[in-house]
Amino acid sequence: MSQEKPRSAATDLVQAGRFAGSGDWLPVNPPITRVSTVLFKDLEAIRAAERAVGGPTRSLTYGANGNPTAFALEDVINRLEGAHGTCLYATGLAAVAQMFQSFLRPGEHVLITDAVYTPVRRLARTLLDAFDIEYDYYAADGSDIESLIKPNTRMIYAEVPGSLAFEMCDLPALSTLCKARGLLLAVDNSWGSGVLYRPLELGADISLMALTKYVGGHSDVMMGSVSVTEAHWPALKKMCTAVGNTVSPDDAYLILRGARSLSARLAMHQANAMHVALWLQQHPQVARVMYPALPEDPGHALWKRDCHGCNGLLSFEFKAVDQAQVDDFVKALTLFGVGYSWGGYESLVTQVDQHGTRSVADWSKAGLMLRLHVGLEDPDELIADLSNGFAALG
Ligand SMILES: Cc1ncc(COP(=O)(O)O)c(C=O)c1O
Repeated sequence: MSQEKPRSAATDLVQAGRFAGSGDWLPVNPPITRVSTVLFKDLEAIRAAERAVGGPTRSLTYGANGNPTAFALEDVINRLEGAHGTCLYATGLAAVAQMFQSFLRPGEHVLITDAVYTPVRRLARTLLDAFDIEYDYYAADGSDIESLIKPNTRMIYAEVPGSLAFEMCDLPALSTLCKARGLLLAVDNSWGSGVLYRPLELGADISLMALTKYVGGHSDVMMGSVSVTEAHWPALKKMCTAVGNTVSPDDAYLILRGARSLSARLAMHQANAMHVALWLQQHPQVARVMYPALPEDPGHALWKRDCHGCNGLLSFEFKAVDQAQVDDFVKALTLFGVGYSWGGYESLVTQVDQHGTRSVADWSKAGLMLRLHVGLEDPDELIADLSNGFAALG
């Protein structure tokens, strides 16, 4: 459970979730505790442990209910999110699914941002449709939300900034609207990773992250988290326990190990991405660069007000190129790997799907777009790599 005294994310990332033993010597890191069976001294000890499950002190009863390495990671995420409680899941997408299952019921309606991580659309068609939970998509900037709220609306699901084009949305304003109408506000906080953006402080009830991305940071482990305020902890924990959800201590250890350097990595991702973004902005073949830290970005004022920095993700739109030219551009790159995901230490490039990823925005007439994840390489060498890409356009 979270402590009350506020500390900076940089300090929490280093100090929280450390080895909790006592004695004259201590390892810096918590051990990897592999566990299915737990042995108790007698039946009363088992009963006491069962009574404590989900309570303020954690109780180790059986591997399916968590393990000490995962508990240490939960402590770090609680601190980062400013949350009362956190549950961990095998992937970020599983965290979204379990969050929906924990808080939505048949007959209810959820409003999902048009800027949502695309596989959530498939999740909606598969899971929400199957359980008769209705959904609609709202504009990435939230401008049409009031007109879409129905009598059975239960939740607004936001992602700030949005996937692919990084549109900002006024979360405190959404929170005011939700509170007035008794709606839940849930946010995908993978972009901000608890360092750059803190949805629970801005009025959200639920914040979830793909820890696979920046928190893990090394492209070698998958995990998701859902963090909630005190009022919503019982519902989240109950569903998590009921469905037998847990994460392995080895994976929890890897995420913890990545988390220790998160703040330093993000600062360098931002510096490198800004360098690349400014260079792209002045390039004659670029129509626009989507990066909220740029003063020209439509979300810049909200970013400045609500965020504590930016990361390595940006997208840009070409002026007039066809698909074959985009293919040639990407083929000419040697430092940007072609791959999904982001948040690791390495640079990546992927094409933005302009047909299957938006319901409200119309991108069909826009120029073709690439998304870059700017990694920790030398930014001038990344720019030289991109120059080779532009040269290949012919
Ligand atoms: C914004 C966002 N949320 C959630 C996810 C899902 O995370 P995972 O890949 O761990 O399932 C992703 C993955 O790319 C993402 O970009």
